[in-house]
Amino acid sequence: MIRVENVHKTLADAPVLRGVDLAIETGTMICLLGLSGAGKTVFLKNVTGLMTPDHGRVLIDGLDIHRTRGREHTRVLDSLGVLFQGGALFDSMTVYDNLAFPLREKTRMAESEIRERVLDHLGMVDMIGAERRYPAELSGGMKKRAALARALILDPGNVFFDEPTTGLDPLTANSILRLIHTLHGRLKFSGVVVTHDAEKVFQIVQKVAMLHKGKIIAYDTPETFMKSEHVRVREYIRGASSGPLEDLTDGA
Ligand SMILES: Nc1ncnc2c1ncn2[C@@H]1O[C@H](COP(=O)(O)OP(=O)(O)O)[C@@H](O)[C@H]1O
Ligand SMILES: [Mg+2]
Repeated sequence: MIRVENVHKTLADAPVLRGVDLAIETGTMICLLGLSGAGKTVFLKNVTGLMTPDHGRVLIDGLDIHRTRGREHTRVLDSLGVLFQGGALFDSMTVYDNLAFPLREKTRMAESEIRERVLDHLGMVDMIGAERRYPAELSGGMKKRAALARALILDPGNVFFDEPTTGLDPLTANSILRLIHTLHGRLKFSGVVVTHDAEKVFQIVQKVAMLHKGKIIAYDTPETFMKSEHVRVREYIRGASSGPLEDLTDGA
């Protein structure tokens, strides 16, 4: 369970988060929408401990990420998987070493166990055969899939995806969302997907939240969200629905 309570954050004298409340039930995946610059990335940073809120608190499975220390703090951080915009693979390492890195750093697994885990995760993202390649030798979609596998390599219970489809062509974007859906079904993490592909992502999440002027102005199932009468939600839906709806869950 992820519980965000009254989180405020001001950056460069501008209030970005102005009292954000959000509860994400264990094992559910939600989507966070909001206009560009609304504060979605700042929100994710405050939830994952990369930024400290000015007020409020963030409880991850009951532990306050900003106030726990020592072993408890490590436990919270280890329960998080984050896929930031840009993917951020290490350019100087092969795909294999990119995935093995967190295991070598954070666990006492033997190389044989590491190999098994890395190959298992590469299989999940359909990347078997690419383990010796460097990030520069991968397509945009493959980079995303490798970054996805690395974000999940320590089997985190809570996973955050910041615009996982931005910069990808529509077909590749669909395949990444479908993959996130499949991985969620298999690994059962609690997830937050930040995206602009609103209607596509609605098929793979249980709830939709919208951030506007520093607050969550709607938090509902996709069906209810689509019917919302909130003027900002309506505007967003109208602006986002410029293309036909494709069925993502088919054949996943
Ligand atoms: N480190 C920072 N210092 C100052 N301002 C920042 C910083 N990070 C983000 N901002 C500002 O906070 C606002 C929200 O940014 P961001 O969370 O990146 O928006 P988005 O919803 O597009 O992810 C923007 O106005 C941005 O310029
Ligand atoms: Mg962002």
